[in-house]
Amino acid sequence: MHHSSFKKSVLGIVGTLAMAGGLALASVAPANAAGEYKAPRDISWSWEGPFGTFDRAALQRGFQVYKEVCSACHGLKFLKYRNLGDEGGPGFSEAEVKAIAAQYQVMDGPNEDGDMFERPAQPKDTFKYPFENEQLGRLANNGAYPPDLTLMTKARDGGADYLYSLLVGYEDAPADMTMQPGMNYNPYFSGKQIAMAQPIYPDSVSYADGTEATVEQMAKDVTTFLHWAAEPKLEARKSTGFVVVLFLVILAGLLYFTQRKIWSDQH
Ligand code: HEC
Repeated sequence: MHHSSFKKSVLGIVGTLAMAGGLALASVAPANAAGEYKAPRDISWSWEGPFGTFDRAALQRGFQVYKEVCSACHGLKFLKYRNLGDEGGPGFSEAEVKAIAAQYQVMDGPNEDGDMFERPAQPKDTFKYPFENEQLGRLANNGAYPPDLTLMTKARDGGADYLYSLLVGYEDAPADMTMQPGMNYNPYFSGKQIAMAQPIYPDSVSYADGTEATVEQMAKDVTTFLHWAAEPKLEARKSTGFVVVLFLVILAGLLYFTQRKIWSDQH
C-alpha cells in the first residue's frame, strides 16, 4: 500500500467513525426535541464501569419489591427460582431459595390419571406468571398488557435509568393535556400516558434489612434487581473482560520486547 493511500484510508475510517458518532447523537435528540417524552435521569449504578458489580443487598431488596409489588402484574419468564442463588446474583442460600419457591403453587402433570395438579414450586421452576394467560392479564389492566420484565432494562432506550425514572416519575397531568380514561400521566413514558398506575408509594414494602422504603430507594433497588435479571452474567463478563485485557497488555509487552530483540540482533 502506498503511503498516501494508507493515509487516505485512515482518514476515511476516522471520518466514518465521526459520522457514525454524529448520527448516533442526532438520532437521540429529535425524540426529546419533539417533546414526546422526557429524557431519563442519569443515575450512577454500582455495576457501571469496567469493575462494576451488583450490590448484593440492593438485589435482595429489589427482589422483595418485585415479589411484593410488581409480581402482581409482571412475569419474569426467563428466571427460575434457583437463579436467585446463582453466583453474581442476589445470593440467597439454597434453603432461602427453596422457601421462596415454596410460597408459589404451580401447575404440573399430567399424573397417572391424566390430570393436571397443583404443587408448591421448586427451585427448578420458572418464576410464576401472575395471570393464567395474556387475555386475563389485559382484562385485569384496562386492556393494557403488563409486559414481561426479564429483559426490560435492555429493551428500552435509557435502560436502567429509564426504568428508574419511570417508577419515580408519576405526576399530575398538566391542565392542558387530555388524558384517556384509565391512563396515568408520566413524562418519561413514550406518549406520556401509561396504563400502569403508580406502582410504588412510600413504605409500599417493609424492608427486611431495615432500609427506609422511600419511593427512590425502592425504585433503585427494583431496577437493580431487574437489571441483574436482564444480565445475570454481568459480573462474570466483566471479570473475563479484565483478564482478557490484562492478557493483551502482557502479550503486547512481550511482542514489543521480542521485536526489539530481533531487530537489534540484525544490526
Ligand atoms: C396493577 C398492575 C401492575 C403493577 C403492580 C405493576 N405494573 Fe408495570 N405495567 C402494568 C401495565 C398494565 C403496563 C403496560 C402499560 C402501558 O403499556 O401503557 C406496565 C408497564 C410496565 C413497564 C413498561 C414500560 C414501557 O416502557 O413500556 C415497566 C418497566 C413496568 N411496568 C415496571 C413495573 C415495576 C418495576 C413494577 C413494580 C414496582 C410494576 N411495573 C408494577 C401493570 C402493573
